[in-house]
Amino acid sequence: MRVLVLGASGFLGGHVHHNLLKDNRFKEIVGTSKSSEIEGLYNIDINNEKKFGEFYRKYNPDFVIWAVMSADNEETLIHTGLKHLLNRMDKQTKLIYVSTDGIFSSGQGCFDEYAALSYLDTHNPLSAYTNAKLDGEKMIQKGHRNYIILRTGPLYGQDLNGNWDFRVLALQSALTANTPYKRADNLFKTFVHVEDLAHAISELLSIDYIGFLHVGPKTKESYYTFSLKMADKLKLDHTLIEPDRIPIKEAIRRGVSLDTSLNTEKCSSLLKTKFREV
Ligand SMILES: NC(=O)c1ccc[n+]([C@@H]2O[C@H](COP(=O)([O-])OP(=O)(O)OC[C@H]3O[C@@H](n4cnc5c(N)ncnc54)[C@H](OP(=O)(O)O)[C@@H]3O)[C@@H](O)[C@H]2O)c1
Repeated sequence: MRVLVLGASGFLGGHVHHNLLKDNRFKEIVGTSKSSEIEGLYNIDINNEKKFGEFYRKYNPDFVIWAVMSADNEETLIHTGLKHLLNRMDKQTKLIYVSTDGIFSSGQGCFDEYAALSYLDTHNPLSAYTNAKLDGEKMIQKGHRNYIILRTGPLYGQDLNGNWDFRVLALQSALTANTPYKRADNLFKTFVHVEDLAHAISELLSIDYIGFLHVGPKTKESYYTFSLKMADKLKLDHTLIEPDRIPIKEAIRRGVSLDTSLNTEKCSSLLKTKFREV
Protein backbone atom coordinates (compact mmCIF):
# COMPACT_ATOMS: atom_id res chain seq x y z
CA MET A 1 0.00 0.00 0.00
CA ARG A 2 1.29 3.44 -0.94
CA VAL A 3 0.28 6.58 0.91
CA LEU A 4 0.73 10.12 -0.37
CA VAL A 5 0.68 12.84 2.30
CA LEU A 6 0.09 16.20 0.64
CA GLY A 7 1.31 18.95 2.97
CA ALA A 8 3.84 16.83 4.92
CA SER A 9 5.84 19.98 5.74
CA GLY A 10 2.82 21.45 7.54
CA PHE A 11 1.60 21.24 11.12
CA LEU A 12 -0.81 18.32 10.73
CA GLY A 13 0.78 16.71 7.64
CA GLY A 14 4.14 16.67 9.43
CA HIS A 15 2.74 14.53 12.25
CA VAL A 16 0.81 12.28 9.86
CA HIS A 17 3.87 11.67 7.67
CA HIS A 18 6.12 11.09 10.70
CA ASN A 19 3.70 8.51 12.18
CA LEU A 20 3.22 6.67 8.91
CA LEU A 21 6.97 6.34 8.34
CA LYS A 22 7.13 4.31 11.57
CA ASP A 23 4.14 2.20 10.56
CA ASN A 24 5.02 -1.06 8.84
CA ARG A 25 1.55 -1.56 7.35
CA PHE A 26 2.56 0.47 4.29
CA LYS A 27 4.95 -0.23 1.43
CA GLU A 28 5.72 3.36 0.58
CA ILE A 29 4.99 6.70 2.21
CA VAL A 30 5.52 9.82 0.13
CA GLY A 31 5.25 13.27 1.67
CA THR A 32 5.22 16.62 -0.10
CA SER A 33 6.08 20.22 0.67
CA LYS A 34 5.77 23.31 -1.49
CA SER A 35 8.16 25.99 -0.31
CA SER A 36 9.85 24.29 2.65
CA GLU A 37 13.08 22.41 1.95
CA ILE A 38 12.80 19.35 4.18
CA GLU A 39 14.88 16.25 3.70
CA GLY A 40 12.83 13.31 2.51
CA LEU A 41 9.92 15.40 1.18
CA TYR A 42 9.15 16.09 -2.46
CA ASN A 43 8.88 19.76 -3.37
CA ILE A 44 5.80 20.05 -5.53
CA ASP A 45 3.22 22.74 -6.23
CA ILE A 46 -0.14 21.02 -6.54
CA ASN A 47 -1.36 23.91 -8.65
CA ASN A 48 1.23 23.15 -11.32
CA GLU A 49 -0.75 20.73 -13.46
CA LYS A 50 2.09 19.35 -15.57
CA LYS A 51 4.60 18.81 -12.75
CA PHE A 52 2.01 17.51 -10.32
CA GLY A 53 0.64 15.16 -13.00
CA GLU A 54 4.09 13.68 -13.66
CA PHE A 55 4.77 13.32 -9.93
CA TYR A 56 1.39 11.70 -9.25
CA ARG A 57 1.70 9.22 -12.12
CA LYS A 58 5.06 8.06 -10.77
CA TYR A 59 3.68 7.18 -7.30
CA ASN A 60 0.08 6.30 -8.07
CA PRO A 61 -0.91 5.92 -4.39
CA ASP A 62 -3.64 3.83 -2.76
CA PHE A 63 -4.36 6.60 -0.24
CA VAL A 64 -4.04 10.37 -0.53
CA ILE A 65 -4.17 12.60 2.53
CA TRP A 66 -5.05 16.23 1.78
CA ALA A 67 -3.37 18.17 4.59
CA VAL A 68 -2.56 21.23 2.49
CA MET A 69 -3.82 24.73 2.95
CA SER A 70 -2.93 28.12 1.61
CA ALA A 71 -3.46 31.13 3.84
CA ASP A 72 -3.13 33.47 0.82
CA ASN A 73 -4.92 31.58 -1.87
CA GLU A 74 -7.07 28.67 -0.78
CA GLU A 75 -9.38 29.27 -3.74
CA THR A 76 -6.63 28.44 -6.24
CA LEU A 77 -5.51 25.48 -4.14
CA ILE A 78 -9.00 24.01 -4.29
CA HIS A 79 -10.18 25.04 -7.75
CA THR A 80 -6.86 24.26 -9.43
CA GLY A 81 -4.89 21.92 -7.15
CA LEU A 82 -7.69 19.73 -5.81
CA LYS A 83 -9.21 19.62 -9.30
CA HIS A 84 -5.91 18.29 -10.71
CA LEU A 85 -5.80 15.65 -8.01
CA LEU A 86 -9.41 14.53 -8.54
CA ASN A 87 -8.82 14.28 -12.30
CA ARG A 88 -5.88 11.98 -11.72
CA MET A 89 -7.06 9.71 -8.94
CA ASP A 90 -8.08 6.13 -9.71
CA LYS A 91 -11.57 5.23 -8.50
CA GLN A 92 -10.20 2.87 -5.87
CA THR A 93 -7.75 5.40 -4.38
CA LYS A 94 -9.01 6.67 -1.07
CA LEU A 95 -8.89 10.40 -0.42
CA ILE A 96 -8.83 11.74 3.14
CA TYR A 97 -9.64 15.45 2.93
CA VAL A 98 -9.17 17.56 6.07
CA SER A 99 -11.90 20.16 6.19
CA THR A 100 -13.00 22.72 8.75
CA ASP A 101 -15.78 23.56 11.21
CA GLY A 102 -15.95 26.96 9.46
CA ILE A 103 -18.40 25.53 6.95
CA PHE A 104 -21.06 25.73 9.68
CA SER A 105 -21.69 29.40 9.46
CA SER A 106 -25.32 29.45 10.49
CA GLY A 107 -27.10 27.83 13.42
CA GLN A 108 -25.85 26.79 16.80
CA GLY A 109 -22.99 24.38 17.46
CA CYS A 110 -22.68 20.77 18.32
CA PHE A 111 -23.06 20.19 14.57
CA ASP A 112 -23.23 16.55 13.55
CA GLU A 113 -22.29 15.08 10.17
CA TYR A 114 -25.79 15.70 8.79
CA ALA A 115 -26.07 19.38 9.78
CA ALA A 116 -26.76 21.91 7.01
CA LEU A 117 -23.73 23.65 5.52
CA SER A 118 -23.50 27.21 4.36
CA TYR A 119 -21.02 29.62 2.87
CA LEU A 120 -19.55 32.26 5.18
CA ASP A 121 -20.61 35.85 4.75
CA THR A 122 -17.93 37.68 2.74
CA HIS A 123 -17.62 40.27 5.54
CA ASN A 124 -15.86 37.56 7.49
CA PRO A 125 -12.12 37.68 6.77
CA LEU A 126 -12.02 33.85 6.85
CA SER A 127 -14.63 33.52 4.12
CA ALA A 128 -12.22 33.04 1.20
CA TYR A 129 -10.55 30.13 2.99
CA THR A 130 -13.68 28.55 4.44
CA ASN A 131 -15.80 28.87 1.36
CA ALA A 132 -13.06 27.28 -0.74
CA LYS A 133 -12.88 24.38 1.74
CA LEU A 134 -16.63 23.88 1.30
CA ASP A 135 -16.25 23.98 -2.49
CA GLY A 136 -13.61 21.29 -2.04
CA GLU A 137 -16.03 19.06 -0.11
CA LYS A 138 -18.61 19.45 -2.88
CA MET A 139 -16.09 18.69 -5.65
CA ILE A 140 -15.01 15.52 -3.87
CA GLN A 141 -18.56 14.30 -3.32
CA LYS A 142 -19.36 14.91 -6.96
CA GLY A 143 -16.19 13.53 -8.49
CA HIS A 144 -14.85 10.76 -6.27
CA ARG A 145 -16.76 8.11 -4.38
CA ASN A 146 -13.98 6.79 -2.20
CA TYR A 147 -13.41 9.56 0.33
CA ILE A 148 -13.40 10.51 3.99
CA ILE A 149 -14.06 14.15 4.73
CA LEU A 150 -12.80 14.98 8.21
CA ARG A 151 -14.06 18.17 9.80
CA THR A 152 -12.04 19.64 12.61
CA GLY A 153 -12.03 22.74 14.75
CA PRO A 154 -8.81 24.67 15.48
CA LEU A 155 -5.72 22.46 15.75
CA TYR A 156 -3.32 23.00 18.60
CA GLY A 157 -0.15 21.36 19.90
CA GLN A 158 3.51 21.27 19.01
CA ASP A 159 5.00 20.65 15.59
CA LEU A 160 7.68 18.05 14.97
CA ASN A 161 10.34 20.53 16.12
CA GLY A 162 8.56 21.18 19.41
CA ASN A 163 7.20 24.61 18.40
CA TRP A 164 3.69 25.42 19.62
CA ASP A 165 0.91 26.43 17.24
CA PHE A 166 0.42 30.16 16.66
CA ARG A 167 -2.46 30.53 19.17
CA VAL A 168 -0.55 29.00 22.06
CA LEU A 169 2.59 30.92 21.02
CA ALA A 170 0.68 34.21 21.21
CA LEU A 171 -0.69 33.24 24.63
CA GLN A 172 2.77 32.23 25.85
CA SER A 173 4.44 35.42 24.70
CA ALA A 174 1.75 37.67 26.25
CA LEU A 175 1.79 35.90 29.60
CA THR A 176 5.55 35.65 29.86
CA ALA A 177 5.71 39.42 29.16
CA ASN A 178 3.11 39.98 31.94
CA THR A 179 0.68 41.46 29.41
CA PRO A 180 -3.06 41.09 30.02
CA TYR A 181 -4.57 38.80 27.37
CA LYS A 182 -8.21 39.13 26.34
CA ARG A 183 -10.03 36.21 24.74
CA ALA A 184 -13.68 35.85 23.75
CA ASP A 185 -15.78 33.87 26.20
CA ASN A 186 -18.73 33.56 23.82
CA LEU A 187 -16.90 32.14 20.77
CA PHE A 188 -16.99 28.35 20.97
CA LYS A 189 -15.03 25.68 19.10
CA THR A 190 -14.01 22.05 19.35
CA PHE A 191 -10.25 22.39 19.80
CA VAL A 192 -8.36 19.36 18.48
CA HIS A 193 -4.89 18.24 19.49
CA VAL A 194 -2.85 17.83 16.32
CA GLU A 195 -1.28 14.54 17.44
CA ASP A 196 -4.70 12.98 18.10
CA LEU A 197 -5.91 13.91 14.65
CA ALA A 198 -2.72 12.54 13.07
CA HIS A 199 -3.26 9.31 14.99
CA ALA A 200 -6.91 9.13 13.87
CA ILE A 201 -5.87 9.57 10.24
CA SER A 202 -3.45 6.63 10.54
CA GLU A 203 -6.24 4.53 12.03
CA LEU A 204 -8.66 5.52 9.28
CA LEU A 205 -6.31 4.07 6.66
CA SER A 206 -7.26 0.60 7.97
CA ILE A 207 -10.99 1.19 8.36
CA ASP A 208 -13.55 0.64 5.68
CA TYR A 209 -15.37 3.93 6.12
CA ILE A 210 -16.64 6.38 3.50
CA GLY A 211 -18.25 9.73 4.20
CA PHE A 212 -18.00 12.54 6.72
CA LEU A 213 -16.54 12.42 10.19
CA HIS A 214 -16.38 15.12 12.84
CA VAL A 215 -13.27 14.75 14.94
CA GLY A 216 -12.25 15.98 18.37
CA PRO A 217 -13.08 15.67 22.04
CA LYS A 218 -16.60 15.81 23.44
CA THR A 219 -16.36 19.18 25.17
CA LYS A 220 -16.35 22.51 23.39
CA GLU A 221 -14.30 25.43 24.69
CA SER A 222 -14.48 29.17 24.27
CA TYR A 223 -11.25 30.89 23.31
CA TYR A 224 -11.21 32.14 26.90
CA THR A 225 -11.47 28.71 28.56
CA PHE A 226 -9.04 27.24 26.03
CA SER A 227 -6.48 29.91 26.98
CA LEU A 228 -7.01 29.39 30.71
CA LYS A 229 -6.49 25.66 30.40
CA MET A 230 -3.43 25.99 28.17
CA ALA A 231 -1.91 28.55 30.54
CA ASP A 232 -2.31 26.08 33.41
CA LYS A 233 -0.77 23.27 31.39
CA LEU A 234 2.20 25.48 30.56
CA LYS A 235 2.44 26.73 34.15
CA LEU A 236 1.84 30.34 33.11
CA ASP A 237 -0.05 32.97 35.11
CA HIS A 238 -3.67 32.54 33.98
CA THR A 239 -4.85 35.53 36.03
CA LEU A 240 -3.61 37.73 33.16
CA ILE A 241 -6.26 36.22 30.88
CA GLU A 242 -9.42 38.30 30.76
CA PRO A 243 -12.78 37.31 29.34
CA ASP A 244 -13.96 39.35 26.40
CA ARG A 245 -17.42 39.26 24.83
CA ILE A 246 -18.21 39.68 21.13
CA PRO A 247 -21.47 41.67 20.98
CA ILE A 248 -24.14 39.78 19.02
CA LYS A 249 -24.68 42.74 16.68
CA GLU A 250 -21.00 42.90 15.88
CA ALA A 251 -20.86 39.14 15.27
CA ILE A 252 -23.71 39.51 12.79
CA ARG A 253 -22.09 42.51 11.08
CA ARG A 254 -18.75 40.67 10.76
CA GLY A 255 -20.40 37.41 9.71
CA VAL A 256 -18.92 35.57 12.70
CA SER A 257 -20.63 32.40 13.83
CA LEU A 258 -20.31 32.21 17.62
CA ASP A 259 -20.53 28.45 18.05
CA THR A 260 -19.17 26.06 15.43
CA SER A 261 -18.47 23.23 17.88
CA LEU A 262 -18.77 19.71 16.52
CA ASN A 263 -20.71 16.67 17.65
CA THR A 264 -18.00 14.00 17.72
CA GLU A 265 -20.08 11.00 18.85
CA LYS A 266 -19.72 9.16 15.56
CA CYS A 267 -15.96 9.44 15.61
CA SER A 268 -15.70 8.29 19.22
CA SER A 269 -17.74 5.18 18.44
CA LEU A 270 -15.88 4.43 15.17
CA LEU A 271 -12.27 4.97 16.24
CA LYS A 272 -10.02 3.61 18.95
CA THR A 273 -8.15 6.93 18.91
CA LYS A 274 -9.16 9.01 21.90
CA PHE A 275 -9.23 12.77 21.43
CA ARG A 276 -7.98 14.46 24.60
CA GLU A 277 -10.00 17.20 26.26
CA VAL A 278 -8.13 20.53 26.37
N1 LIG B 1 -4.60 24.49 11.56
C1 LIG B 1 -5.89 24.51 11.89
O1 LIG B 1 -6.30 25.06 12.94
C2 LIG B 1 -6.91 23.84 10.96
C3 LIG B 1 -8.27 23.88 11.32
C4 LIG B 1 -9.20 23.26 10.48
C5 LIG B 1 -8.78 22.58 9.33
N2 LIG B 1 -7.45 22.58 9.01
C6 LIG B 1 -7.03 21.87 7.78
O2 LIG B 1 -6.05 20.93 8.15
C7 LIG B 1 -5.12 20.75 7.08
C8 LIG B 1 -3.71 20.95 7.63
O3 LIG B 1 -3.60 22.28 8.15
P1 LIG B 1 -2.22 22.79 8.80
O4 LIG B 1 -2.54 23.76 9.87
O5 LIG B 1 -1.35 21.61 9.09
O6 LIG B 1 -1.60 23.60 7.56
P2 LIG B 1 -0.15 24.24 7.44
O7 LIG B 1 0.69 23.98 8.64
O8 LIG B 1 -0.33 25.66 7.00
O9 LIG B 1 0.49 23.42 6.23
C9 LIG B 1 0.05 23.61 4.94
C10 LIG B 1 0.78 22.67 4.01
O10 LIG B 1 0.28 22.90 2.68
C11 LIG B 1 1.40 22.99 1.79
N3 LIG B 1 0.97 23.75 0.61
C12 LIG B 1 0.39 24.98 0.56
N4 LIG B 1 0.13 25.31 -0.72
C13 LIG B 1 0.54 24.27 -1.50
C14 LIG B 1 0.57 24.02 -2.90
N5 LIG B 1 0.10 24.91 -3.80
N6 LIG B 1 1.08 22.84 -3.34
C15 LIG B 1 1.56 21.94 -2.45
N7 LIG B 1 1.57 22.11 -1.12
C16 LIG B 1 1.07 23.28 -0.64
C17 LIG B 1 2.47 23.67 2.64
O11 LIG B 1 3.74 23.49 2.06
P3 LIG B 1 5.01 24.46 2.44
O12 LIG B 1 4.85 24.85 3.88
O13 LIG B 1 6.18 23.61 2.19
O14 LIG B 1 4.93 25.66 1.55
C18 LIG B 1 2.29 22.89 3.96
O15 LIG B 1 2.90 21.63 3.86
C19 LIG B 1 -5.52 21.76 6.00
O16 LIG B 1 -6.24 21.08 5.00
C20 LIG B 1 -6.40 22.75 6.73
O17 LIG B 1 -7.35 23.34 5.87
C21 LIG B 1 -6.51 23.19 9.79
